[in-house]
Amino acid sequence: MPRYFALLPAAGVGARMAAGFPKQYLEIAGRPMLWHALHAFERHSRIERVYVVLSPEDGHWDGQDWTSLTKLRALRCGGATRAESVLNGLEAMADEVDGEDWVLVHDAARPCLSRGLLDKLLREASEDGVGGILAAPVADTLKREGEGRRIAQTVPREGLWGAQTPQMFRHALLRRALEHAGTGVTDEASAVEALGLSPLLVEGDIGNLKVTFPRDLELAAWLLTRAEA
Ligand code: CTP
Ligand code: MG
Repeated sequence: MPRYFALLPAAGVGARMAAGFPKQYLEIAGRPMLWHALHAFERHSRIERVYVVLSPEDGHWDGQDWTSLTKLRALRCGGATRAESVLNGLEAMADEVDGEDWVLVHDAARPCLSRGLLDKLLREASEDGVGGILAAPVADTLKREGEGRRIAQTVPREGLWGAQTPQMFRHALLRRALEHAGTGVTDEASAVEALGLSPLLVEGDIGNLKVTFPRDLELAAWLLTRAEA
């Protein structure tokens, strides 16, 4: 039986958050954002271990209390891009994982992943030959920007989805895909797509928020407090 592992790339600097330190260490609902992202996997019985990829220059990790996370393994092998951090993590965990085991790659910047959505992804993507990702259908009408911030074009939103994480693939396939795709891809699915495969879209919701800008912090805190209540 294949096992399930979580891999959280957390080696970014959080430039758009501009907090003066990496955003994954910002406190939300009484804990670092990264703790919440890791805890979503810690609490799920199907998840064997939770790997986090840190920057080798990370000076914040050691000062925090991670003792409540018993499945945790920290890997100090972050790279210059998200894809590089993920690939380095896949290589570092390779000795402890079988090629057919599932790896769920999840952004440290998504602290509000619910139990229900993780369950749904595990259920639907496990049945799939390729793997799958959480994603949400695009709700807004999309505009392409032209000269002087004027609308050049309206892009039909039919069939368009916003990709989220976790993105769930078998370890060997994902490693091969990222080696093949190079360091520029912004998610795992696009690397797998470049191999000619079509990952499954598993419908999530906007509650699985990505915390990017300062304005996202309040909403993330509210979602987490509501989930605990
Ligand atoms: N990440 C990483 N290694 C990098 C860049 C990003 O592990 N070299 C991780 C981030 O820590 C985050 C996830 O990839 O968990 C998604 O990235 P993003 O939200 O863009 O975070 P940052 O890159 O830190 O933010 P910004 O783009 O604003 O600098
Ligand atoms: Mg980034």
